[in-house]
Amino acid sequence: MPRQHNQQRQQPQREAAAFEVEVIPGLEDIAGQELQRSLGRHMVREPIVREGLLPIRYAGERTALLGLATVLAVYERHHFAIPRPKALLGQSAFDTLLRAIETVRALHPRDAFQTLRISAAGEESSVLVRLREQLANATGLAYVAEEGNLLLRLRRPLDARKEATQGSDPGWEVLIRLSPRPLSARRWRVCNLPGALNASVAHAMALLTQPHADDVVLNLACGSASLLIERLAAASARIAVGCDMDGGALECARANVAASGADGIRLELWDAGALPTPDAWVDAVLADLPFGQLVGSHERNLELYPRILREAARVTVAGGLFAAITQDIRLWERLVADAAADWTLRQLLPIKLPFGGGHLRPRIYVLQRKGLDGHIF
Ligand SMILES: C[S@@+](CC[C@H](N)C(=O)[O-])C[C@H]1O[C@@H](n2cnc3c(N)ncnc32)[C@H](O)[C@@H]1O
Repeated sequence: MPRQHNQQRQQPQREAAAFEVEVIPGLEDIAGQELQRSLGRHMVREPIVREGLLPIRYAGERTALLGLATVLAVYERHHFAIPRPKALLGQSAFDTLLRAIETVRALHPRDAFQTLRISAAGEESSVLVRLREQLANATGLAYVAEEGNLLLRLRRPLDARKEATQGSDPGWEVLIRLSPRPLSARRWRVCNLPGALNASVAHAMALLTQPHADDVVLNLACGSASLLIERLAAASARIAVGCDMDGGALECARANVAASGADGIRLELWDAGALPTPDAWVDAVLADLPFGQLVGSHERNLELYPRILREAARVTVAGGLFAAITQDIRLWERLVADAAADWTLRQLLPIKLPFGGGHLRPRIYVLQRKGLDGHIF
């Protein structure tokens, strides 16, 4: 068939808009793979210029961006060819901004957005105070200094230096978050345990175990069940069990599991270092180990980690995968090296977790259980 005829029969292509996908630094590859799987041919990746930010052009439905599970948030990126933020107060730029905000609000029920926040360098300057007052006025949203539902970021383009060296003004960008809360703030988290794992990290770890509907999955030291719930969001499982020594954490886990609607998760008051389960029973093990800071201590880890690693080796089938995250890196890496007869280290992902205004730098380890004769899969 002639090519031209083919093109005539295609749906008219919607123009690609610019978006920025925010992810936990270190998870760019996993998130990039999810973008490719979920958005496919409607999406084109652009070069990454800052860690944790994936710029894309996307011509599909915006609602598809709201279902991404390994990302923190998605922003629509609008470029304004203006020399200073003050120009956003001009009629034409301001109207463009209001239309962009309306596009985002239309993705959600009308009452989903109550508050507005603008994040920018110098956000208390008279121009930005005027801008937020006018936006609050025009949108009917209340301005808040932190955690607004409608979140706008104002900044120079990240690759501005390129334009500046070519002698032209790079302009300004306004990024509008597509959701009233970060996408990593899941609806199922009705019980918020201190030290609980960020859900986008939990989802990424679940994917690293190559989930299959036939798996027996064990979440050691499960706390509020973030890993188990995200594992079942990624794929169903034959059996899914979580264990923790803390009855209060398990209560929290029960509430979250009920809110998630996931079926068949078992939660048990077991010591992760002495499990009452048979040998070679589990296909995939997940663990967000006590980092030894907010949860547990390095001294307790010295006793706990070797027991957990040994017990995981006992219960995991040959070829099975164990995804663990910890910040007690030296201890865990020494133990993994010592356990080379049982495990092959398949992947190591250093990540940067936002914490209290700074960052934690834990690592995700994917281990694969060797066969009885040391066979590597
Ligand atoms: C970092 S928290 C896990 C948080 C969990 N990923 C979440 O999102 O809520 C570590 C958990 O290890 C549990 N824990 C510590 N020692 C344990 C042991 N010997 N057996 C089972 N769980 C243990 C603690 O009770 C705590 O809930």
